[in-house]
Parts: sequence; C-alpha cells; structure tokens
Amino acid sequence: MTDKRKILITCALPYANGYIHLGHLVEYLQADFWARFQNMRGHECVFICADDTHGTPIMVKAREMKITPEALIAQSYKEHTQDFADFQVQFAHFGSTNSEENRLLCEYFYKKMQEGNHTRTQLIQQLYCNHDKMFLPDRFVKGTCPKCGAKEQYGDSCDVCGSTYSPSDMKEVHCSMCGNAPVLKDSESIFFKLNDFKAYLEEWIPKHCSGEISKKMLEWFNEDLKDLDISRDEPYFGFAIPGTNNKKFFYVWVDAPMGYMSTTEQWAKAQGKTLKDIWQDPSREIYHFIGKDIARFHTIFWPAFLKAAEFRSPNQVFVHGHLMVNGEKMSKSKGTFIAARTYLNHLNPEYLRYYYSTKLNSSVDDIDLNLEDFTGRVNSELVGKITNLGSRGGQMLKKKMDGVMSEPDAEGKKLIAHAQKTAEAIAAHYEARDFAKALTEIRGLADDANKYFDEKAPWKTLDTDPAGTKQVITTTLNMFRLLAIYLKPVLPYYSDKVAKLLNESSYQWSDLNKVLTNCPINDYEHLATRIEADKVKAMIEEGKKINEELQAAKKAASTATPKAAAAPAAATVEVRPAEIEFADFDKVDLRIGQVIEAEEIKEADKLLRLKVDIGEGQIRQIISGIKAAYKPEQMVGRKVLVCVNLKPRKMKFGMSEGMILAAGTGGSDLFVLSADDGAQVGQRVK
Ligand code: MSP
Ligand code: ZN
Repeated sequence: MTDKRKILITCALPYANGYIHLGHLVEYLQADFWARFQNMRGHECVFICADDTHGTPIMVKAREMKITPEALIAQSYKEHTQDFADFQVQFAHFGSTNSEENRLLCEYFYKKMQEGNHTRTQLIQQLYCNHDKMFLPDRFVKGTCPKCGAKEQYGDSCDVCGSTYSPSDMKEVHCSMCGNAPVLKDSESIFFKLNDFKAYLEEWIPKHCSGEISKKMLEWFNEDLKDLDISRDEPYFGFAIPGTNNKKFFYVWVDAPMGYMSTTEQWAKAQGKTLKDIWQDPSREIYHFIGKDIARFHTIFWPAFLKAAEFRSPNQVFVHGHLMVNGEKMSKSKGTFIAARTYLNHLNPEYLRYYYSTKLNSSVDDIDLNLEDFTGRVNSELVGKITNLGSRGGQMLKKKMDGVMSEPDAEGKKLIAHAQKTAEAIAAHYEARDFAKALTEIRGLADDANKYFDEKAPWKTLDTDPAGTKQVITTTLNMFRLLAIYLKPVLPYYSDKVAKLLNESSYQWSDLNKVLTNCPINDYEHLATRIEADKVKAMIEEGKKINEELQAAKKAASTATPKAAAAPAAATVEVRPAEIEFADFDKVDLRIGQVIEAEEIKEADKLLRLKVDIGEGQIRQIISGIKAAYKPEQMVGRKVLVCVNLKPRKMKFGMSEGMILAAGTGGSDLFVLSADDGAQVGQRVK
C-alpha cells in the first residue's frame, strides 16, 4: 500500500429552497462511493458538504411560506441531512453557507479582491418590481421570447426554442410573482474583474478538469472575460457587503463556493485544527464533485476568487452529467422528478446505490435511470447473483450442518485466489471513478462463484459427501465475502451485515488478503429482497400526486386576493381577586417562534443554547433549562411559544434574550409548549 493520502472532497451545496431528488443523488452517491473507497483503503478522505442558503429564490420562497428565510433554511437543513443519512451518504461534516465562518471568509475574500484592485463599481440598470419591492433576477421575469414568440418564458432563456437573451429583449415583460410590469431602476453594482485572471485561468483549466469540460470552458476565452457582478441590492437574503451600509449583499454565487472552505473550517475546528491546516496543506488533495450545469462557476469564477485571495485551488473538479429517467428529462407531471423522500417511502436506498454504481463513470455523459432496467438489474444481479450466494451457502451451513466452515477445495482455492488478484483492477476503477467498470469486474466474480456452486450442486451431495460439500460451501462463502468487501463503497450496510454473518468487523480493503477457514458463522440475516414492480409504480404515483397538489396550491395562492388583517378579538377576561389584572398579563408579549439552532452547553447540566426565530428576521439567543428533557436535535425546527419582552439576562454562558414556555416540574419532567406546524412564526399569541 502507498503512503496514507490526505484527501478533502466536496459535493455541490444543494439549494435550501428545494428538496433532495434522485438527480442530486447521482452526485452525492458517487462522491460517497469514492470517499468510502478511499477510507477503506486506509487513506483519510474528508467528505464535506453544506446547504446553499442565500439568494432571491430562498427569500421569495420564505415570503410565500410566510416564514423567515432562517426558518426555511432550518427546515431544509433538517430534511436534507435526514435524506442523506437515509441514503447512507456519510459526510464528515454538513454545514450551511449561512454561518459566521462563511461570512468572515466572504469578507476576507472581498478585502483581498479590493486590495488587489480586482473590483470596480458601475452604474447599471436593472428590472425592479414596485409591487414586490425588489430587483428581479432573470428567473423572476417572464415574457414573450424575442426569437420564437413563445409566451411565458423566463427572462434568460426560452424553453421552447432554446435561445438565450436578456429580459430587455423580451416583449410583455412581467414579474413572475405578481404579474405587474417591472420598471428599470439605476443601481451601482460592484464587479469582480474576472479578466485580470484570464491568463491564469487559461493555464489552470486544462490541468484541473477533464478534456471535455476544459474544451467547453475555454470557448469563453476567445474574447475578454466579462466582469462578474458580485453585488445584489437589498432586499436580499445573504451577507451584507462591508462599506455599503447594509444596502448591498454578496451575490449568492460568491459566498456559496466559500461554503466549501467555511464548512471545512468548522470540521477542522472540531479536530482542533484551523482552516489553513487543512486547505493550505500542500500534501492534501482537494476535489470538487459537481454537475455539468455549474462547471463555469467552479472552473472559471471559483479558481479566480481563490487566486485573488491567495488560497490554493482544488486539484481537480470532477464533473458529472445529468440524470434522465426512462430516457427523458425528469418530469414533474410524469412523476419522474422523484424526491429522495418519495423514493425512500417505497424502496430500499441500497437498490439505488447499486443501480447508480453500475451506471456511473468519470465522463460528463448523462445517466439514465430506466425503471424497468433498475428493477431487472437489482433483482437479477444484486439479489439473484450476489445475495443468493450468501443466503444459500450461509443457510445450508447453518441449518443442514454444524455452522462451521472447513477449507476450500482445490478448485475453490484457485477461484478465491483469482478473485483476490482482481483487487488492483477493481481498485483502479474505483480510483478513476469508473464505478461501472468496477461493478462489471465484481459481477464477473459473482458469475464465477455461481457457476462453481451450480456445477458442484452441494445440495445433492449433503448426505453422500458431507466433507466435500462443506468445502464447496466454504469456497462459496469466501467468494461471497470477497464480493462484500469489493462492494463496501457502494453497499456499506450490506457489507457490514456480511461481516457480522462471518464474525468479522467492518471490512477494510486489506481484508481481501485473508481466506476464512474453520470458523463458525452466525445466523443468516436478511440482506436484500427482490423489488416488486408495484413498489416502483406506487413511487411514481406518489410523485405525480405530490406534483398535482403543489400545482393546485400554487394556483390557489396566485388567485387568492390578499386577506384583510383580522380584527383582534376583544379581550374577555374576568378579573378576580388575588389574580393579576389582564393589563398585567397583556404586558407579556408571547409569540410563535421557531428554533433554528440548538446546542448543548457542555459545562451546564441543565442548559441548552437555542437560536430562535421570532419573526421579522429577528433571531434571539435563549438559554433554556430543558437539557434533561430534550436533546438539541429534538428542538431544531420546533415551533415554540416565546416570551419576547422578558428583560435580557446576562448569564454565565451568554445573554438570554427571552424565554420559551414549558410545562412540568422541571428536570426531565418538562414539556416544551409547541405550536402547530402551520403556525406562523412571529405571530402574537393571545
Ligand atoms: N447551490 C448550487 C451549487 C453551489 S456549489 C458552491 C446548486 N445546487 S443544486 O441543488 O441545484 O444542485 C446541486 C448539485 O446537484 C449540482 O452539482 C447539480 O449539478 C446536481 N444536480 C441537480 N440536479 C441534477 C440532475 N438532475 N442530475 C444530476 N445532477 C444534478 O447548483
Ligand atoms: Zn412583482
């Protein structure tokens, strides 16, 4: 084995205004395969990701949902991390671009850009919606395509004829949210002088991404590179640009890639290290896994930002293609725009992990999830070829014999030696991210084992030749074991179950060198069952239904007239002696809040530190004595009742700016009073 490599890999940061779907998983799963492969080879591969939380779509979606952006991103965080965990994607750390580390880093990059004279300002005109009181990015403008006349096209490109343009070229331009015609408004923008880095990038690009991508990217270099507008006007959910009086914010694509570094920084801190220890360590390899749609951001803008701030750049940007379903683009109306959660409601995540692994390679070609092929391959290969070896061999040995292996026969020894010798070829394919080729090799070995098993037909010789039969089963189980080691990057839980069956601990690549002889095995635990076709159908139906509901809700929202604010109900509280006056009670300002962060205060045995969104963009830190009753993760996302006008109290562990209500006697007998999921954050409780 070569020296221990230190690797850092990232996946693109998923937007916090959407759910994780099977398209995303093309990326997160391949990166997970690769990270697990490296780690089981004895290297250190740190796998980093985060939610991408800033920008107009997130601000607008939060407005639609009548919650704060912070509450929206807290909710997505919970859902995304759960989806990834359930798909067995194992991050070293999953962060958020809305973090203090990221803000500071972003400001640092900006300072370096300014110091290097790589920024300039310029007055530009942009579309502004007087009704929604915001500048409209191209995607929030609709109109008639100037080329083909198709109506209701986005402001940047036409879905019908595919031409690209700017909103000013369109006819019947209107705001996609309210339908009103926008106006042009002047605004001063801050630009990053990308062209300062032209020569650097021309040399950098071919060395740091595949030939296919490099060729495509260098097409932009026939002319000067256009400067990048890195500022956005308020209102914008993001980081304020220093020196602009909180009126201008960094464009989301400025702080998003920095999220790779700030999340790494958070991970580094947890290891007692600094960002520089990891990122600037010349012996550490850094790779970004991304989809082809965002190659320009990662191979042109990002390396230029890094250069401007004098940070090292990644070793390679690994670019993959898009997911197709049944040979077509994923479609919401056909139910093939499948949410990770919808899939999980019907099918085992390992099926998808297996199927993608048989399809993925290092090219940018799109990959197709053909649902019939998916069912067929999982059933015939994963269940029929691979799992059957273990279940037949394991059950025969355990149920028909004494449950202890002997030794492989002469033919078996050759078979096993051959399977072991294939290790370097399989490793090379994994290393090259050619998962499909690795899986072809592995299936070949499974074929060899099945052929051997069927020819020897041990079920026929159980009585006549028990010793010989045991040797056949011992060979079969050893072959099965090798397959489980080879498959571990793709099927880690499956592989762990096999290790348990054979009384071993979780496999490392070096375990391939061993042959198991004369050892007892455990009871065979169920590993994988066939996919029933109706499960796939039910998943598609659920996808369709969710889409129909979403469409209906959207329609209802856009036709509804704004509701007049309801008159506050008259107070009808009887005043009795010894009780407080209503006026006293009325002084208590209670509101619906949503917990967006919760952490244990390690030094205190009762306290959790909460960050609570109390509406209108206000976040309060509340130190609450509920630790004995609630784990931090049980609190995140919860809607609670908050007394918001309690005088802030300085406590040993920081300021507590309010109180959340709970019932009970204290300690673990405590019930935080919660509001319904639908309750609006910030609403006053009366
Ligand atoms: N937020 C940006 C990335 C910022 S990175 C600093 C973004 N988010 S995304 O949620 O739209 O996509 C995240 C990743 O998933 C991207 O690499 C994207 O290419 C990938 N995919 C999203 N849909 C996909 C398919 N349908 N198929 C394959 N990959 C896809 O882009
Ligand atoms: Zn509008």
